[in-house]
Amino acid sequence: MADQDLYPVPPEWAAHARVDSAGYDQMYGRSLADPGTFWLDQAKRLDWIKRPEIAGDWSFDKSDFHIRWFADGKLNVSANCLDRHLAKRGGETALIWEPDEPSEEPRRFTYAELHAEVCRFANVLKGQGVVKGNRVTIYMPMIPEAAFAVLACARIGAIHSVVFGGFSPEALAGRIEDCGSTIVITADEGRRGGKRVPLKANVDAAAAHAPGLTTVIVVKATGGAVTMQAERDVWYHEAAEGVATTCPPEPMGAEDPLFILYTSGSTGQPKGVLHTSGGYLLWASLTHELTFDYRPGDVWWCAADIGWVTGHTYILYGPLANGATTLMFEGLPTWPDASRMWQIVDRHKVTTLYTAPTALRALMKEGDGFVTATDRSSLKLLGTVGEPINPEAWRWYHDVVGQGRCPIIDTWWQTETGGAMIAPLPGATALKPGSATMPLPGIDPQLLDPEGVVLNGAASGNLVIARSWPGQMRGVWGDSDRFFQTYFTTYPGKYTTGDGARRDEDGYYWITGRVDDVINVSGHRMGTAEVESALVLHPHVAEAAVVGMPHDIKGQGIYAYVTLNSGQDPSDDLRKELVGWVRKEIGPIAAPDKVHFAPGLPKTRSGKIMRRILRKIAEGDVSSLGDTSTLADPAVVDDLVANRVV
Ligand code: WTA
Repeated sequence: MADQDLYPVPPEWAAHARVDSAGYDQMYGRSLADPGTFWLDQAKRLDWIKRPEIAGDWSFDKSDFHIRWFADGKLNVSANCLDRHLAKRGGETALIWEPDEPSEEPRRFTYAELHAEVCRFANVLKGQGVVKGNRVTIYMPMIPEAAFAVLACARIGAIHSVVFGGFSPEALAGRIEDCGSTIVITADEGRRGGKRVPLKANVDAAAAHAPGLTTVIVVKATGGAVTMQAERDVWYHEAAEGVATTCPPEPMGAEDPLFILYTSGSTGQPKGVLHTSGGYLLWASLTHELTFDYRPGDVWWCAADIGWVTGHTYILYGPLANGATTLMFEGLPTWPDASRMWQIVDRHKVTTLYTAPTALRALMKEGDGFVTATDRSSLKLLGTVGEPINPEAWRWYHDVVGQGRCPIIDTWWQTETGGAMIAPLPGATALKPGSATMPLPGIDPQLLDPEGVVLNGAASGNLVIARSWPGQMRGVWGDSDRFFQTYFTTYPGKYTTGDGARRDEDGYYWITGRVDDVINVSGHRMGTAEVESALVLHPHVAEAAVVGMPHDIKGQGIYAYVTLNSGQDPSDDLRKELVGWVRKEIGPIAAPDKVHFAPGLPKTRSGKIMRRILRKIAEGDVSSLGDTSTLADPAVVDDLVANRVV
């Protein structure tokens, strides 16, 4: 490997970081050699009502499949994020909120104030009859009340299911129904980049398909007009009037559910990934501290949305468990212009920024001037997540944004893993642009060939995790079999990530992307099957096949092959209509970038669509389509190649 591709640990980081290179080796070694002792020791970072005496208790084998961590422990997650900080840092800032509109004043909440707001929200939920174990759907803009709502659920033991505010009423309804929640918390409207998002109206539309929904709590965010339905809808500010700002935290078993978060897989509808209380919080807190070298006094900004797992773990649970100051941004990186993120950094003296490669690429395209016009001297570390970062964006982040001073922490993980899994530690790991580097303590990654044989040394293969870790998901909501089937049957005894990876001669991991039918659009997971199901709901569509294609900004774009019903003619209008249709069915993030009207799709004689060929055509790589002789009608391929949409 060429020297310029290796960024050694800067001496000041090696000297002062929490963990240096020898420290990492020792910690990692201990975590695998004596996991029981290691994890019970780590568990001390949380406040337990009853301290656990058992660490991991798990088996990935079919006959005895179970995953439990700290199962005899009792705690409350919100008390860990709030109450335990009150004595020492009750007056310090817990949450900074930066509004969409830059001329508006930010809002700040100390730990004492956040505690009071969360208790108030918890009491409002109780007043609406919510009890431990109930599912509460949260469909909110990025406003402080979203944080209050999430933590209020944790306080009373209700299970939150946050649905990203960009999802359509149809998608929202499906998620409400799937987890059987009778209550939705929303706002009148959201704001993003100066535009309004009609959240309450979307909930009204979703309610038509979610008969079990009986209560909607509405936070007044913009003051935009909404229709309130007397029996069902409650204004938060009215319900909160005169409500107490203390609320005892519910004692929870470590394995009691904390939240459900829907995510796309390669088959069927999105699945409700279930995380529980003790192990998840421990993982969120530990990884936030280690990977980002969190120190008291840091101003931490994770620029994700709380509708995604990154927002759960690294806007809320991890930083708050660590007593950090966490920043929440309502708007978009490119609005009013491409300087916005750096202005926010300067305004709040952000020390640590965590964002996605897609945002970096979008900003990079606008030129360095938007960055260099700002100071950014407060920054000391920069993180990235969501998709492989291309070395060009990595270097831009390092050289231009971070002025060459800040380590780039590329963290690989998934909704299912609860928190970061493979990532450098700033004081321990020399960096290579594009590599997420090394496993965190307790993480035992392996690369397997298609037959499941473990590959040693430098190799490429399917990335699996060979043993459980505390932040691991515990199940798919409402479908116990699906968890085992999806993640533990391809390579028995191991957790299948769905990603491919390469390990180089130094043991560094390079994630190469999904090996299943999941595409990663702007760092958001989208199942091709979901987009296909939406397309075939259209009355003119007979069949659809969706694949990913390279996209400069989004990483991957969506390329949809559509076969129309006979008698139906392709047209540009219909193309637009289909894109709009998918937006409406799922949400804007699922809208196809290209629609290719195809009279036929390449199928094997048994009727299976050959996606490999469709992917190659979408990528424009038509010279190496491989063997097409097994197709029922090889001529279909020539037609597709000739009519590729560019
Ligand atoms: C991809 C987001 C390469 C990967 C936290 C994974 C990454 C999927 C990285 C999970 C990274 C995430 N480098 N690929 N640093 N981070 N991915 O569930 O394909 O929304 O399986 O979780 O994103 O996406 P999810």
